[in-house]
Amino acid sequence: MKSFIAKPWLLPQPVLIIGTYDENGVPNAMNAAWAGQANMNLITISMGNHKTTSNLNANGEFTLAFASKETMVASDYVGIVSQKNHPDKMLKSGLTQEKAPNVNAPVFTDYPMTFECRVKEKLYESETGYFIVAEIVNILVDEKYLAEDGKPDVEKMNLITFDPIHLGYIALGDRVGQAFGEGKKLK
Ligand SMILES: Cc1cc2nc3c(=O)[nH]c(=O)nc-3n(C[C@H](O)[C@H](O)[C@H](O)COP(=O)(O)O)c2cc1C
Repeated sequence: MKSFIAKPWLLPQPVLIIGTYDENGVPNAMNAAWAGQANMNLITISMGNHKTTSNLNANGEFTLAFASKETMVASDYVGIVSQKNHPDKMLKSGLTQEKAPNVNAPVFTDYPMTFECRVKEKLYESETGYFIVAEIVNILVDEKYLAEDGKPDVEKMNLITFDPIHLGYIALGDRVGQAFGEGKKLK
């Protein structure tokens, strides 16, 4: 086995788009990979010092969309350009937005699934950012991406994951088994 020093290589990593408004209601989006589910209705995100971070300080509500193959270019764009020095960022991204029904944040309707979230806690706050602990207030799913049983169908969404080692976006592949089921073969 080859050894490596500590790296942010937890795999697989999501490609999440954080949607916020600033204090004047101007929408913004940014790409975030360092995030995870914390329990049934909590998520964590590792935030640097971005325009999105100041928006979150002014208004602790946001949306979190899951990037797909179809939204990859816009999703990467909002992760490499800051609204701090590119006021036309959202126009250039080509993303379509409307006000979220339950939080004071924009929903980008190009994405298959979006969480509506509220910041509960900021941990390890410093000039370089903080960890957010946020509550999932509601989940919005474009009806195109629902399964027969009315729940979201991950396989229809064409979601992508972030490869932090070679900086790629990788499309999710085939369903290969049943969770809480495959292991029963060895019981
Ligand atoms: C693939 C990818 C993943 C990223 N993950 C994070 C992250 O987890 N946390 C973070 O603070 N910034 C992350 N960024 C950087 C921000 O998205 C980027 O700095 C963005 O331009 C901030 O925009 P804003 O200043 O308009 O809010 C990521 C960027 C990319 C391309």
